[in-house]
Amino acid sequence: MKHFLKETDFNPHEVAEVFALARELKRKRGRNKPVLANQTWALIFSKASTRTRVSFEVGIHELGGHALFLNKNDLHLGRSESIADTARVLSRYVHGLVVRTYAHSDVEELARCGSIPVINGLTDLLHPCQIYTDAFTAAERWTGPKGDLLAALRGRKIAFLGDTRFNMANSWIMGAALFGMQIALAGPKGYAPGAQIKALLKAGGLPVSFSFTTDPFEAVAGADIVYTDVWTSMGLEGEAKQRVRDMRPFTVTEKLFAAAKPDALFMHCLPAHPGEEVEQAVLDTPRSIIFDQAENRLHVQKAILSMLAR
Ligand code: CP
Ligand code: NVA
Repeated sequence: MKHFLKETDFNPHEVAEVFALARELKRKRGRNKPVLANQTWALIFSKASTRTRVSFEVGIHELGGHALFLNKNDLHLGRSESIADTARVLSRYVHGLVVRTYAHSDVEELARCGSIPVINGLTDLLHPCQIYTDAFTAAERWTGPKGDLLAALRGRKIAFLGDTRFNMANSWIMGAALFGMQIALAGPKGYAPGAQIKALLKAGGLPVSFSFTTDPFEAVAGADIVYTDVWTSMGLEGEAKQRVRDMRPFTVTEKLFAAAKPDALFMHCLPAHPGEEVEQAVLDTPRSIIFDQAENRLHVQKAILSMLAR
């Protein structure tokens, strides 16, 4: 059974297929083949979501399937029924799961115990749908509608600023290694990427080659992409005040963005908090591709769904 829980769950050949398919599905939106006809996919979300929920619901519908959204409170899961039994029961009804939750191990357990494909819609550890989409979006911008998307990524540098120890930073570390990019992370002391991400890189046969600095200007020098994420991720609200204090030097200001390559792109997974991790002026620059990223979640996830439904 094929799952998409982490970036390396597709081999390089399959990654190329996902990108090619996403481009095709985007070009032919409204005329896509109903590859999910007669299928129901359940979305189990324990955290809030605008993009992931809506893009998956719309994407499943556009591929001819039915999406069943289940808030964690709608299920017995986590109260009086185990993850294993939930996985076994849902496998009798639906054809696949998209799961957004806290512990990555919970998504792994759902995948292990069920008999249907599981897609990671964000955990504390990783957000792989976002990173595939981000890489696709930058590549699309660099190549236009016809060029080689994966070749466009190779050798590029991404600077990741702010919270360098959570899902988005981790996933970009994995993504950079997978797409042959260089990644420089800049965050406060104490927020350097942890051992778990190094172990994941090694397990996936990828090089452990990211750099970490506390100097944001050092990280953005020569960068093709400047990327940031919220300082306080879902589930970490109790640390919000401390995080604002710690991460203030890592705001993507116009001055910091100008220290990257002159044609560098600004990217953010959204939601953004202007005045915290990024200045409004940077979000608004023509080199900010944040809404293309948001749109492409739909096309790339439809490609991922199509691959898993085969
Ligand atoms: N970027 C992202 O996953 O957004 P949502 O939290 O709105 O799904
Ligand atoms: N790091 C953020 C990403 C949201 C898409 C969070 O986990 O809340």
